[in-house]
Amino acid sequence: MSSLFDSDSFPPARESLEDGAVLLRAFATSEAAQLIEGVTRIAQQAAFRHLVVPGGHTMSVAMTNCGRVGWVSDRTGYRYDPLDPDTGKPWPGTPPVFLDLAVRAAADAGFADYDPDACLINRYVAGAKLSLHQDRDEKDPWAPIVSVSLGLPATFLWGGKRRADPVRRLRLESGDVVVWGGPARFVYHGVAPLKNGEHPLTGSARINLTFRKVF
Ligand code: SIN
Ligand code: FE2
Repeated sequence: MSSLFDSDSFPPARESLEDGAVLLRAFATSEAAQLIEGVTRIAQQAAFRHLVVPGGHTMSVAMTNCGRVGWVSDRTGYRYDPLDPDTGKPWPGTPPVFLDLAVRAAADAGFADYDPDACLINRYVAGAKLSLHQDRDEKDPWAPIVSVSLGLPATFLWGGKRRADPVRRLRLESGDVVVWGGPARFVYHGVAPLKNGEHPLTGSARINLTFRKVF
């Protein structure tokens, strides 16, 4: 007898993207509201801002950070900075619920003892996007990036190790977590322009947390 819960009528909870990369569907759903509360508190101390990249272009995604260092960009380049350049103060600490989730997701993806020291927080509204890029400002070339999607859905672009490689389009929903490290650490990835919408958790926005091991 077929039922709503036939395995072929639901996407699998755990989808391998390639060696070293996995999509954990709904992994963060039960913590999502707490994560958003954490983001709200962090943004009260370190406001979301649109960074300028070295070429002079202003990013459509608004960013802030928590953790020992935060990722920032200006006309002179990208860097991890222990201080928020907007306030001159250290970034807010990483809430335990953030860290606990990141460590569990990394372990589930095969990366034991994950110890991230930075969490970049991205806020997308309709039209905001992130062009295809590699995350390569971190010292550890093996430790994974753990990326948590909250609020409005997005189309995640998953390419290859060369910019010109074919790109897959993956729909990410609130609570989905993508982990990539080891042999997949330098895969090109990005986010297609966000579509309009309303989400009970975030209103008209998508929030993404990306944990990194920088040092
Ligand atoms: C990132 O690549 O840093 C963020 C990815 C995302 O927003 O899903
Ligand atoms: Fe990235």
